[in-house]
Amino acid sequence: GLPQSVVITEVGPRDGLQNESLFVATDKKIEWINRLSDAGFRHIEVSSFVHPKWIPQLADAVEVFHGIKRAKGVVYSALVPNERGLERAFEARVDAVSIFMSASESHNQKNINKSIRETYPVLRPVVESAKAAGLPVRGYVSTVFGCPYEGNVDVNQVLSVVDSLLDMGVDELSLGDTIGVAVPTQVTELIARLSKEVPLSRIALHFHDTYGMAMANVWAGLLAGIERFDGSLGGLGGCPYAPGASGNVATDDLLYLFQKLGVETGVNREQALLAAAWFEQNVGRTLPSHAMSVLRGQ
Ligand code: HMG
Ligand code: MG
Repeated sequence: GLPQSVVITEVGPRDGLQNESLFVATDKKIEWINRLSDAGFRHIEVSSFVHPKWIPQLADAVEVFHGIKRAKGVVYSALVPNERGLERAFEARVDAVSIFMSASESHNQKNINKSIRETYPVLRPVVESAKAAGLPVRGYVSTVFGCPYEGNVDVNQVLSVVDSLLDMGVDELSLGDTIGVAVPTQVTELIARLSKEVPLSRIALHFHDTYGMAMANVWAGLLAGIERFDGSLGGLGGCPYAPGASGNVATDDLLYLFQKLGVETGVNREQALLAAAWFEQNVGRTLPSHAMSVLRGQ
């Protein structure tokens, strides 16, 4: 049957903004994140401590962390690619660290400038130091269902990266359909393989919606026993180093699904929609989610 509740990680402030052409002002980002915590989100990916030349939209990560209201019970996390990034993350007083790499060699190279083999020794000390400081660590694996440069990605390659990240000590894995090419049968098959290696409670699914399959893939994940899903309010998102990728599955659409299913999220859907409507005024374009187009039509 369906779970009683799910955990949503709102990645909009990070994934949603990293690919936008417009730089959203720091104070707008801060207000955006405050509105998210007010709406009931308990896991918010605030920004990214990557090289600001690679992702200029998030160059203000430290300022954003220092500006937000720290609501009780909310975990404010960020992407960290290496030890330099972790220093900045500590300075910003993050609550949790997300490391990231890809299951496919070429996306890993384009995205973080290293081969898969070269990446492990960079990430291992990040995980060790984060854990020594008492911070939980999430490990993203990108391109698990397809790569923008290589096409199909072998499931064994995904399992090998997953094993290495677990071996490093990550607490949670987030499996990324970076370019939004997955179909539900792939999700079912991958989760079946993974369930032999790792408790499903430690796996989150991170879908992008390029072909409109994201919601169907969430459903497949739910039926397979997954209880953690990433989304971006309004449906912004994408990776600048993954050509053709479109936005994340829209959190506001996820909230509709879960509300109708009677699955608790802890998020107030009306308040989340109002927050998205506010944000739309500041991001300079129409948000692509279904729920937002319904709201605009009312
Ligand atoms: P690099 O150039 O190979 O770095 O970049 P390096 O280690 O050779 O260092 C070069 C210089 O950069 C040095 O400075 C470092 O100090 C500095 P110098 O000594 O020359 O003056 N430097 C830094 N400065 C600030 N912060 C840092 C940092 N690191 C080095 N963290 C690097 C390697 C990983 C840094 C770069 O490739 C990068 O920043 N990549 C990030 C790309 C990115 O953010 N992509 C999007 C996120 S992933 C994603 O969206 C997928 C996901 O959503 C899941 C999914 O959908 O699949 C998570
Ligand atoms: Mg993503």
